[in-house]
Amino acid sequence: MAISTAISRFSDYSRRHGLWATVRRIGVALKRALFSGRSILFYCDLATQTSPPRELPTFLKAERIKSLAELNSEDLEAMTSVWNPQLVRRNMKERFGLGASLWLIKSHDKLAGYGWTLQGRTVEPHYFPLGPDDVHLFDFHTFPQYRGQGMNPTLVARVLRSLAKEATGRALIEAAEWNVTQLSSLSKTPFRCLGMAKKWTIFGRTFVRWAENDEAAVGVSRRSLGAANGATPAWATFSK
Ligand SMILES: CC(C)(COP(=O)(O)OP(=O)(O)OC[C@H]1O[C@@H](n2cnc3c(N)ncnc32)[C@H](O)[C@@H]1OP(=O)(O)O)[C@@H](O)C(=O)NCCC(=O)NCCS
Repeated sequence: MAISTAISRFSDYSRRHGLWATVRRIGVALKRALFSGRSILFYCDLATQTSPPRELPTFLKAERIKSLAELNSEDLEAMTSVWNPQLVRRNMKERFGLGASLWLIKSHDKLAGYGWTLQGRTVEPHYFPLGPDDVHLFDFHTFPQYRGQGMNPTLVARVLRSLAKEATGRALIEAAEWNVTQLSSLSKTPFRCLGMAKKWTIFGRTFVRWAENDEAAVGVSRRSLGAANGATPAWATFSK
């Protein structure tokens, strides 16, 4: 995250929650960055997602949005209420501009959660380059009053089935190693573990340090990274 973005997010947090809560939040962010800054990466072969999407209960609806103009003002308001509204709008414009889709899940016509997808590339430098048919899933969010009700896995599963009709590569998603709720949520989806890694981007070049993987993850990350003779590279570097 850019320093200006971090400052903007924390000043917005301070305005909403007060100074003391912000100091504690910065402490948590620093602790996570220093001691648990790795991400767990997941993949799903889209070719396996062939069966039609399961019927949703009548009170749930999923929608796909491809431009800011398609998003109604109530949903936009709900999304901008989570973070700094200017930052959220800027991110949305950038993401739609790159060709990303925003997926919404609604309960009784109220926005319960959302997530983004982008095919063939990522907004931020990723852990490895994507192929043209790979799709990145990112920034999934369930509003607090709907958490623990399966909104996120329902939306993720639906997104995967829809993407399978238009792309034949891999869907990719990651979660911070400290984010136990997202890890638990992803365990209820078709995503499988690819490995664990930490990345740094310096002057447009991305450095990735892969953790020692367990035996299942090792096989997958080898294939994905194209490593020779089965050796999982501890370090990888590339420019976007
Ligand atoms: C991670 C997140 C998207 C999961 O969404 P969700 O719709 O609640 O997902 P699930 O229903 O599968 O619940 C996942 C876990 O949340 C936890 N949970 C349950 N009730 C909860 C509640 N009321 N409040 C918070 N977390 C709760 C449980 O650990 C649950 O796992 P379990 O069912 O195995 O016990 C959501 O917590 C969220 O938006 N978090 C903030 C943003 C974020 O971290 N996004 C992911 C990174 S991009």
